[in-house]
Amino acid sequence: MKKSFYITTPIYYPSAKPHMGHAYSSISADVIARYKRLEGYDVKFLTGTDEHGQKIQKSAIKENLSPIDFCNKISKVFLDLTKQLNLSNTDFIRTTETRHVETVQKLWKILEKNNKIYLSKYSGWYSVSDEAYYSEEEIENLENGKKICRATGSIVDWVEEESFFFKLSEFQQPLLTFYEKNPNFIQPESRKNEVISFVKSGLKDLSISRTTFDWGIPVPGNDKHIMYVWLDALTNYLTAADFFDKKSFWPTDIHIIGKDILRFHAVYWPAFLMAADIPLPKKVFGHGWILSGDEKMSKSKGNILDPIEIIDEFGLDEIRYYLMKEVIYGLDGKINTDNLKNCINSDLANNIGNLSQRIFTLINKHFNNKVPDAKLTKEESDLLRISPDLLKKIMDNLEIHNYVREVVAYSSKINKYVNDEEPWAKIKNFDNRVGTILYLALNALKNIFVLLHPIMPTKSEKFLSCIGIAKENISIDLISKNLESNTELTMPGLLFKKHI
Ligand code: MSP
Repeated sequence: MKKSFYITTPIYYPSAKPHMGHAYSSISADVIARYKRLEGYDVKFLTGTDEHGQKIQKSAIKENLSPIDFCNKISKVFLDLTKQLNLSNTDFIRTTETRHVETVQKLWKILEKNNKIYLSKYSGWYSVSDEAYYSEEEIENLENGKKICRATGSIVDWVEEESFFFKLSEFQQPLLTFYEKNPNFIQPESRKNEVISFVKSGLKDLSISRTTFDWGIPVPGNDKHIMYVWLDALTNYLTAADFFDKKSFWPTDIHIIGKDILRFHAVYWPAFLMAADIPLPKKVFGHGWILSGDEKMSKSKGNILDPIEIIDEFGLDEIRYYLMKEVIYGLDGKINTDNLKNCINSDLANNIGNLSQRIFTLINKHFNNKVPDAKLTKEESDLLRISPDLLKKIMDNLEIHNYVREVVAYSSKINKYVNDEEPWAKIKNFDNRVGTILYLALNALKNIFVLLHPIMPTKSEKFLSCIGIAKENISIDLISKNLESNTELTMPGLLFKKHI
């Protein structure tokens, strides 16, 4: 039996077309999912769209469409993006699906049965753009008379309506105890402190239903109310695990999210689950923002980078590589075309690509396209070895950027070895060390492309197929198995283009 692993992305609001920030979240989750598969796990990888709520209803009205027609249209764009980004998701959930509506209503009934819900009246600030309630202390007055949430900059409106409440206040202490007992639940560390101080500052009961619009899941037994979109949305993770039936893959191993939605995932979500006696997810990782200039990329700021345009120009695997290496996972990162070109040219074209090109040209010319015989010295065996344990530790810490940096540093070392050994000169002198040098470099390239498979799946599969490794056999174990001498090779050709 394979060990299982369940990872999720946020489900995206289909209120507008996806941008590079959404792509970043999904790609990073895909890299972790693929890495776990490389380690032999049976991975469930979930993504999808969050389709209810006032924000979506308003966007639909603007486009003169019914909410469901609007969602069908934009959700499809997000679904297409999963293919354009080569995501390995095993499910794509839409919160308008029946399976989801049923799950949310079941969860509501359990919360009700457990006496965690009561009917009252909400009056306070609400941001439609964030779909979030804010307290007086979180609000700032603008000169034009409007009010915004200080943290997100989103406009808030005063709301007064009958509402069901979730007894969040009961969970202040249980949550703090839970964070203490599970120190890795919130990652990275800096975000954990934010959450803990928010919870310590006191939790008020949470309004979890609305009556002033109707685009949402009806509250069981009271059709006047629809559920608060975040209760609905977070439950998608249970729906996709078929929690109330097969319970497959539960609890989630990691929820990958942007730091903007940490409060929902690290406070409300565990509280809902505790209240329903459901096991909690193991980890929530809040990554940073992709900035455009110095600001978060968002539709309202009009500073969007379209992932498809960038992919068309530079290539998907190249973009995946750049984002995963250059943006420190957990911190904000800027995308910049000059940096991107530099990264592609130096790491991919000049380092890894050039190594492959040189080695294959020599093997083709002098070894009849077959893996040469070799006698590695002790130093050479050490040079070739790259520690899977170290890389595993780095990935388990979710330092994706360091994982990539480790692999590219290894490639640099191998390039240096080849430069120093000069196999092209040794060939001319009929030196019998040449086979060994090429053998070492070829096996190092195998290791590099196996390790980079989660990041650049297409290039990796292309390269590995040229050395006789089929897609379905790619696994971390291959890095401690050298290729057999005499194995037939095919030329991978130019793997990475340089950009001027
Ligand atoms: N629908 C909610 C999430 C519900 S999850 C149960 C939502 N959707 S969203 O479309 O507004 O944003 C979802 C996620 O997209 C963010 O949490 C983040 O992961 C990603 N990003 C959106 N803009 C981003 C950047 N500029 N940079 C990096 N990621 C960003 O919130």
